[in-house]
Amino acid sequence: MPSAPCRAVIFDLDGVLTETAEYHYLGWQRLADEEGLAFDRQANEALRGLSRGESLQALLGGREVDPDTFAAMMARKNGYYVDSLQDMSPADLLPGAISLVIDAKRRGMRVAIGSSSKNARFVLDKLQITGLFDAIADGDSVERAKPAPDLFLAAAELLGVPPADCIVIEDAAAGVDAALAAGMIAVGVGPQERVGHAHHRCNTTRDVDLTVVLQPVEERVGQGPTVADGWVVIDDHHDPDQVVNVATSHLTGNGYLGYRGTLPEWRSDATVGCTVSDTWDNADGKWAELCNVPNALYCRLEHLGEAITVDAEAVLSDRDLLERRLDVRYGRQHRIFGPSTGPVARLVGERFASMDQRHLLAQRQRIFATPGTRLTVTTGIDGQVWSLNGDHFAFMEPHIHEDALAMRMNTTERGLPIAVAHAVSIQGGTVQAERIDQKERELYRVLDIEVGGDGLLVIEQVMTVHSGNDVDYPLVSSLELAREAAAAGYEVLLARHALAWEALWKRIDVRVTGDLATQTVLRYNLYHAVIATPMHADHLPIGARGLSCQAYQGAAFWDQEVFNLPMWVHTFPEVARNVLVYRHKTLDGARRKAARLGYAGAYYAWISGDTGDELCPDFFFRDVLTGRPIRNHFNDWQMHISPDIAVTIDGYVRATGDAAFVAERGAEIAFEVARFLAAFVHYRVHDGHYHLVRLLGPDEYHENVDDNVFSLEQSRVALAEAVQLYDLLRSDHPEVLRALEEQLGLTDAERDLWADVLARLVEVEPDPHTHLLEQFRGYFALEDISPEDLRERLQHPDEYWGWPNGIAVHTQVTKQPDVVQLFISQPELYDRATIEANYDYYLPRTQHGSSLSRPMYALVAARLGRVAEAERLFLRGATVDLLADSHPAPGGTFIGGIHIAACGATWQVAVLGFGGLHVRDDHLEIHPHLPEGWERLQYGVAVRGCWVDVDASNTEVVLTADPDNPAEVALDVHGQRVAVAAGERCSVSFDLGGELVTN
Ligand code: BGC
Repeated sequence: MPSAPCRAVIFDLDGVLTETAEYHYLGWQRLADEEGLAFDRQANEALRGLSRGESLQALLGGREVDPDTFAAMMARKNGYYVDSLQDMSPADLLPGAISLVIDAKRRGMRVAIGSSSKNARFVLDKLQITGLFDAIADGDSVERAKPAPDLFLAAAELLGVPPADCIVIEDAAAGVDAALAAGMIAVGVGPQERVGHAHHRCNTTRDVDLTVVLQPVEERVGQGPTVADGWVVIDDHHDPDQVVNVATSHLTGNGYLGYRGTLPEWRSDATVGCTVSDTWDNADGKWAELCNVPNALYCRLEHLGEAITVDAEAVLSDRDLLERRLDVRYGRQHRIFGPSTGPVARLVGERFASMDQRHLLAQRQRIFATPGTRLTVTTGIDGQVWSLNGDHFAFMEPHIHEDALAMRMNTTERGLPIAVAHAVSIQGGTVQAERIDQKERELYRVLDIEVGGDGLLVIEQVMTVHSGNDVDYPLVSSLELAREAAAAGYEVLLARHALAWEALWKRIDVRVTGDLATQTVLRYNLYHAVIATPMHADHLPIGARGLSCQAYQGAAFWDQEVFNLPMWVHTFPEVARNVLVYRHKTLDGARRKAARLGYAGAYYAWISGDTGDELCPDFFFRDVLTGRPIRNHFNDWQMHISPDIAVTIDGYVRATGDAAFVAERGAEIAFEVARFLAAFVHYRVHDGHYHLVRLLGPDEYHENVDDNVFSLEQSRVALAEAVQLYDLLRSDHPEVLRALEEQLGLTDAERDLWADVLARLVEVEPDPHTHLLEQFRGYFALEDISPEDLRERLQHPDEYWGWPNGIAVHTQVTKQPDVVQLFISQPELYDRATIEANYDYYLPRTQHGSSLSRPMYALVAARLGRVAEAERLFLRGATVDLLADSHPAPGGTFIGGIHIAACGATWQVAVLGFGGLHVRDDHLEIHPHLPEGWERLQYGVAVRGCWVDVDASNTEVVLTADPDNPAEVALDVHGQRVAVAAGERCSVSFDLGGELVTN
């Protein structure tokens, strides 16, 4: 038998993915009746796997007909058949078919159809799954039908995969013969007597398990989970202390909602949560946060009154098996539970938040149990939700329908209507009795089910959610969608969802060859960055914890622009635009904040929700020693947020050339930020400079500082941008400027003030000898101590290190990069000696108290060519959530959840750091520095309307330009400039020192 790794799966269509046998049978039967030929279902069985001509030959049973009559008969039968196919729909997919195709794709395998049918494409279209396949070989592809190997060989050739690396899934004896003849691995679907000669045999498509056919490639990450196939994270034990973190890590989501990776039977105490975007509500008078809505995927199984479950609080017995898997390729959560006692041998569940229909979640559980077992299944809506800060549902109303359940509610503060709906369908069992169980905020259907003869009970549930911010009638929409989705069935929903994910991965994926663990870690981060992003809307932010829970209020920080947007700008610029439009739509909130604090212009909120008003409370943390609330000034002093947004707009416009955005929105933001800066600065007569006084830079441990270099330099770019845009609009688009002047009350005098502030904004120069930049005025005079030594002074492990009384305040220990952050925001500002000296100075003084910290050092280290150190920092940063080792509630404030900025930063480190990509104004620069073990790094990048695929090693860069590119893309590799026209490919090789070898 050929051995793994296999790279492709070729699927027969009929009998494997769908069942058209009945339609064929009816067609043949009609022909046979018309021709007076003997034919019945048994005779039909013998036609499996035969071509149309061969089937007719068999049907004629030796009767001689001339070739024209023969051809006419074939056409007639086909006509009958095709007529009946018109009625085909996704409902004709065989159970497990889509899951199998998707499993193959998730493993990175190519997939093809190898079907003798000339109608294969038509059938695939009717099933709505054509897009899933990389190639289709059908009855028109080759002359000789199965059992000749030709068709499968043709499919392999179309895929570009050698036959020995292909698996064939077939239900016909002739098909298995063909696969064997082609030198492929044959998996037979059907009875022993028909396909028993295949390498592997299963009764039905649903039973085909690629893990049995292939050895999965798995690796453990540290002491944490196992990763497999470049896409899957496996947690194979249950630790009650890790319930919160694993539920966070195994999140499924789609930018509209996030559903935590808990078990279907768990309740709010196990942090079950479905966090929905655009549902801000302030229930306790302090924290405005997104709502966790009722869980409409609740499902609990019982046998004779005993729950079949893993108790979140309890340690699992050695003999019980519990495995949880997160498949990031298709955003699916799986749980495999094998209780050690009782009639249920295995419970295999999976769920996903649909990327195709964002208001929908689907869950399927397959229960393998002794036939005849009676199970009680409680399925429905659990409205006792986990909520961090108060009860957001002042009112909740159950709705019971025969085919669906629903819960309608209004939020406490704002009265926003929200509805969730639930529908369930059962296969493989008979419902003996059914009742509704309704309690305070709970609504269930309780089913008494007898497991059918083949011992497999399947429960499919759908959950839908809408709020009054999405639709006019949330209840109606949720019920409608739940019904539609339940009718379509899990597999069909999965197929649509998978196609949507593929379109995303096509652009977002970053492939690392040679290091499987890193590959999976990287994709895990990209996955979380994607599902946190409201790709569908332009009025919503990317929350610092995404939609993984309510922490950080579902709101945006500077994280959004500085950590997350670079990935989107360079992969899906339209998504980056949406997020920047959100900043435009929330300008009024920023204006209100500025006015409240006595400034003009737009002072963006440190924590920004839907209106842009400041959500960050004055008292953020609590002192664990005294219990007193701590007055932090993240909200009113962390002013770099405004210039950060302006700098990001500048970068977005340069990378995309989106002049329309400037005119419609960008200029207004830039002007309002400049206005704010001009109001914020202090002019000091004695030195003739403008200064930044009393602020907080990125290093949050040091509040109330002056002239923070990062904030100064970001402000300088923001002011320059505003002046330039003003002048540009005045010369090129005076009407746009006039409108803005009128709207904002702008004058030339104000523009001149910005120019003056820009000209006289104080400059902090690197020290001429040491090249060091002082993080803020007086920083170098603070106690110089290492974070490790400083830690010794802690009285409690959860003490807050920063302002006003934390242990770091009077020392040089910083929470995260501050000066070094500038080398990322403005990579061209300083020379290498300055970057290197400051990197070396600040890194040992950084405590990495934020997940934002290590990835940024990694990026700078990679660009400096310090690859081993960069890799170490990168992996540590990229595994904060995967290893689930951070404390979710330091100082008593829950800040658990996925660290979305760190996720976005992994893209930056991989592509901009190790990949060495710089997007310059008129060209791309690429200087790869790949860690040892990374053979190649492949990614795509969008640049001014063009798309290019980059494939790099340490000695070569290959660039492939998309055929639809409107222009050439210029590339600079180690000083060598080449231009790549649309559809062309170009390769530049160099030696490790960067010397060009060939072109
Ligand atoms: C970091 C900030 C960051 C925030 C949200 C804080 O711990 O210091 O830089 O914006 O978390 O991620």
